[in-house]
Amino acid sequence: MKKILRILLYLIGIVFLFLVLGFLYIQIKGIPKYDTVNIDYHAEPNPERLERGKVLVGSLCIGCHINREAGNLSGGLMLDAPKEFGKIYAQNITGDLNYGIGAWSDAEIMYLLRTGIKRNGSYAPPYMAKLPNLSDEDMASVIVFLRSDDPWVAASPIPDKPCEPSFLTKALSNAVFKPFPLPKAPIPMPDTSNTIEWGRYMAFNMECFSCHSADFKSNDFLNPELSAGYFGGGNKPLNLEGQVMLTPNLTSDNETGIGKWTKQQFINAVKSGKVEGQEALRYPMNPYVRLSDKEVGAIYDYLRTIPPISNKVVRSGL
Ligand code: HEC
Ligand code: HEC
Repeated sequence: MKKILRILLYLIGIVFLFLVLGFLYIQIKGIPKYDTVNIDYHAEPNPERLERGKVLVGSLCIGCHINREAGNLSGGLMLDAPKEFGKIYAQNITGDLNYGIGAWSDAEIMYLLRTGIKRNGSYAPPYMAKLPNLSDEDMASVIVFLRSDDPWVAASPIPDKPCEPSFLTKALSNAVFKPFPLPKAPIPMPDTSNTIEWGRYMAFNMECFSCHSADFKSNDFLNPELSAGYFGGGNKPLNLEGQVMLTPNLTSDNETGIGKWTKQQFINAVKSGKVEGQEALRYPMNPYVRLSDKEVGAIYDYLRTIPPISNKVVRSGL
């Protein structure tokens, strides 16, 4: 009996030792690093790309990278990042050579936005957006805009603070979260005369699906339509006070979704946050002021083609 107890104690000791070693290993190793690749890539500036780039950056990047005091994309603390992830700072992405991305090449920016691997090889955890499905043309527009002297991105020497990821973030970044592969084939623009195809593209790449499906954890970022509860709502992004803001069901279910909404009502909600007979939509549903009625209308057309889901979501905090 005594012998068995002793063996048991040894075993527990060994398991404990491994746990401590594992913990130390991840604490010290931190966020994993990956090989960077030497790609030949250049985004040629032109006025159309600059204009389109502002629309895309204004819809996709500004929410996190805005520094409200400076009025530009010099970054700051992300108040809406879940506390369990640690202290997360969106970085300065203006053209500043030291603090911004003025010294990054077009290829390095593209590689980060596609895969999640930064210039120094370090992985950017899921609190930094990735764009695996954005068309090559839109990608070029984003980069041309970032390189411009628009007031949002003109060099601004505001030092950025490094993120302080928690143990959980480090552990998940080693075990679960992985960079996306660089797309193997060119990604063309969708046919914009086909509103369903155009709307599907927008619903993927404006990240509407990411917030409006069941859960960030069960989202499929490479194949958005395979995400659990696709557009059925109920996901739990946070507002700037750190409170959960449940996302509404955007499928065409008549009772719990937006089956009874007209296209115009949808456009008003998305572009100006106005919903008839209700309080205005609040953060993190920022009004998409830069999208055209046509683009938002296309998202509406597409949403009517996906399977309706019955899932009643009550608006948070009203
Ligand atoms: C959900 C919030 C969020 C969104 C949306 C977002 N970012 Fe980020 N971004 C971050 C955070 C946080 C970091 C820092 C990540 C890190 O250090 O690991 C970051 C880092 C970066 C970096 C690396 C900067 C550096 O100096 O290391 C670039 C470049 C960047 N983002 C560009 C963009 C662009 C372009 C967009 C829009 C297409 C975008 N980001 C959208 C949160 C976001
Ligand atoms: C960062 C998360 C997030 C993203 C991205 C997002 N939404 Fe939302 N959306 C929300 C939240 C949260 C609400 C509810 C806000 C409230 O209760 O005040 C909402 C509300 C809405 C509503 C109102 C629905 C209703 O039943 O009242 C519509 C329509 C909508 N979003 C469409 C979109 C579209 C289209 C996109 C992409 C262009 C999008 N959303 C992107 C989080 C998001």
